[in-house]
Amino acid sequence: MALKPIKTVTPDEAIKAVRSGDHLHLSSVATSPQCLVHALCRRGRTGELADVHIHHLHTEGPAPYAGPEFEGVFQLDSFFVGPNVRAQTQRGFADYIPVFLGETQKLYREGYLPCDVAMIQVCPPDDTGLVSLGTSVDATLAAMESARCVIAVINPHVPRTFGDALISLDRINIFVEDDTPLETVHFAAPDTVETAIGRNCAELIEDGATLQLGIGAIPNAVLSQLGGHKNLGVHTEMFADGVIGLEEKGVINGAKKVIDPGKMVATFLLGSRQLYDYTHENRLVLMKDVGYTNDPFLISQNPRATAINSALQVDLTGQICADSIGVKHYSGVGGQVDFFYGASRSPGGKAILAMPSVTSQGISKIVPMLLPGAGVVTTRAHAHWVVTEYGAVNLYGCPLQERARLLAGIAHPDHREALDRAAFERFGSHFHFVKK
Ligand code: COA
Repeated sequence: MALKPIKTVTPDEAIKAVRSGDHLHLSSVATSPQCLVHALCRRGRTGELADVHIHHLHTEGPAPYAGPEFEGVFQLDSFFVGPNVRAQTQRGFADYIPVFLGETQKLYREGYLPCDVAMIQVCPPDDTGLVSLGTSVDATLAAMESARCVIAVINPHVPRTFGDALISLDRINIFVEDDTPLETVHFAAPDTVETAIGRNCAELIEDGATLQLGIGAIPNAVLSQLGGHKNLGVHTEMFADGVIGLEEKGVINGAKKVIDPGKMVATFLLGSRQLYDYTHENRLVLMKDVGYTNDPFLISQNPRATAINSALQVDLTGQICADSIGVKHYSGVGGQVDFFYGASRSPGGKAILAMPSVTSQGISKIVPMLLPGAGVVTTRAHAHWVVTEYGAVNLYGCPLQERARLLAGIAHPDHREALDRAAFERFGSHFHFVKK
């Protein structure tokens, strides 16, 4: 039976569905529905709207609704502070909801947060009337389930991905067409420090491991060192271009996975156009709800689950700050705890924190104490492996003084003496008698 033609409206028409006081969810990362964002802001400038709450994970592209121009009109309370809203969040115009990434869906499904209007971006329908959420399932599916109105941008650049990404046209109330290319990011080739970190991580990754890699330069540096590995799998919250070559070479084949064997599982994707083309109609890639990808108990069922994430600071006892620089919110809790906890419970699993020993300004990231106001994302009881360009240490099972000694040993040589001194002051003269 032929499908009924879809009636589309302009973005400005679609945005009329938004009412004052509504809570809106925007689809995330590369699929941020930019034509709706701009129409929403145009309407916001008319004075017709007040007290509209906006929620989303990290989004790419402009986010003008977060700025002071829209005070009283829009209030952004995001689940992750991405680069496009960081300055406004740090200035207090926008705010952040601390939440494990895996539980962002629960906020909607269990009614902690209302969702009145979900704004999503999908690929054109197939001949059975299914569209795909493409590169972003995350909390967007849950937002749609509870929304009074779902506005979908149909965009041919959205890849047709499978898993929970496939949804029926009848779950959508208003359609808009757009063919603006999706946002892309290109990660620079790893520098010498990142390459050394990648090598140190690769030595910890065993054949048959199921990988989770976070966002940024270090994950790519790690992947670039895995060409000689065998039977790797992927169960992660996101992946970027680095996995493509490894899958094509057969290094990533998911053969040892217990959960979704043979498949690469993620909840969002961010990378180049090549990545989006790779995932289009690719049955090896399963895009799943974030409550599934980031469930620590499910993650732990894959053997040798190995999670690699980064941090802003680690103190000498192993407390990991990954979301703020002092009181300034920089990013979010994200999936770090979901995956560290899941990996540490998996048979042969490893939770690996990988970061350069110093910032671009030469400030040590291993510190005696976190900056005042810094948030602990991963507690010292959850911390296991810490890797810098100077080596890898495992804090799990170690007492505090041993941790301080291990961490000072992988700090930048310029900072080791000061860290040693700080540990001595903290733990007393016994510290130096701990095995060197
Ligand atoms: N003191 C002062 N500034 C610091 C700092 C410190 N200890 N550590 C980092 N910075 C600055 C850096 O200099 C850099 O600024 P610049 O861009 O002006 O040079 C900026 O903060 C970012 O640091 P960088 O080390 O480049 O961060 P990154 O891009 O590698 O990301 C996290 C690191 C921790 C922010 C990122 O991994 C994250 O958001 N994690 C939280 C969530 C998570 O782990 N999710 C799971 C995977 S998605």
